[in-house]
Amino acid sequence: MKQLKIVHHQKIAYKTYKIILQGSLVKKFHQAGQFLNIKLPNSSMLLMRPISLADIDKIHNTCTLIYTVVGNGTKLLSTLPTDHKLEILGPLGKGFNIDFIKERDTVLLIGGSVGVAPLYELAKQIIQNQASVIEIFGYRTAKNIFYTKEFEQLNILDINKKSKLFISTDNGSSGKKGTVDNLIDDILPQIEPSAIYACGSRPMLKHIQKRFANYENAYISVDARMACGIGACYGCVLPTYDTIWNKKVCTDGPVFKTNEILL
Ligand SMILES: Cc1cc2nc3c(=O)[nH]c(=O)nc-3n(C[C@H](O)[C@H](O)[C@H](O)COP(=O)(O)OP(=O)(O)OC[C@H]3O[C@@H](n4cnc5c(N)ncnc54)[C@H](O)[C@@H]3O)c2cc1C
Ligand code: FES
Repeated sequence: MKQLKIVHHQKIAYKTYKIILQGSLVKKFHQAGQFLNIKLPNSSMLLMRPISLADIDKIHNTCTLIYTVVGNGTKLLSTLPTDHKLEILGPLGKGFNIDFIKERDTVLLIGGSVGVAPLYELAKQIIQNQASVIEIFGYRTAKNIFYTKEFEQLNILDINKKSKLFISTDNGSSGKKGTVDNLIDDILPQIEPSAIYACGSRPMLKHIQKRFANYENAYISVDARMACGIGACYGCVLPTYDTIWNKKVCTDGPVFKTNEILL
């Protein structure tokens, strides 16, 4: 376990926070979609909380995490001040594979709510590799939206000038009304994505799995209840399409191909 210092902590949307951590451990962070296990400063909270890397900055040795407050652990995390040192295990898991993406390719990113967070580092790396990203992000309402400006600023850096962000909200308070599926229907016929990467709620991922089951390069980042985060406790196991084998979300994932695991 290593320490990272909180250097910035800010509320950015409804129940949603951005936290920037600094320390030498960041030198080990490379792959978008990997996560950190965070030990909270409360002895009754034995289990560490997994949170994805949203941005990695090697120049300043910082990483950004974006999290939504859902229970006692994330509530406590949201109260921690700058200069507090967090005990961290990571980077953990296998993130998004982008090795096969070529210059000028177009890649589709689909995010739901806080599942948008790890797609920021992913979009950054894809654009740095001179490919383009079409981002389709769905939120509950306008007050849940975060990081729109940051993604738009990234998209400007695309040398192919094709990267673009599309938003939907369940109630139509911003962007297209409905789920991301409506936006996918509109946009998919206009692009030929060489890969699809999705992160969001279980129902959203189940739908993406079905819709893109026959795509060679379609990936989903899966959320599961975790304990150890390092493959030792079997707490995060999911069944696979192959009835014999199971996969551990913490070490075999959290990113899987759409036809790999049963949700
Ligand atoms: C690989 C991975 C990456 C994640 N990345 C993010 C992220 O970037 N931003 C974000 O907001 N959330 C993320 N989550 C979900 C986040 O871990 C949970 O929301 C958080 O652990 C809830 O803790 P809590 O104490 O507030 O909630 P409680 O419900 O009080 O948690 C009780 C226990 O259940 C575990 N738990 C609860 N919900 C989840 C969950 N959905 N997934 C895993 N364990 C859970 C907690 O670790 C804790 O041990 C991620 C989960 C996984 C597995
Ligand atoms: S969380 Fe322990 S094996 Fe995955």
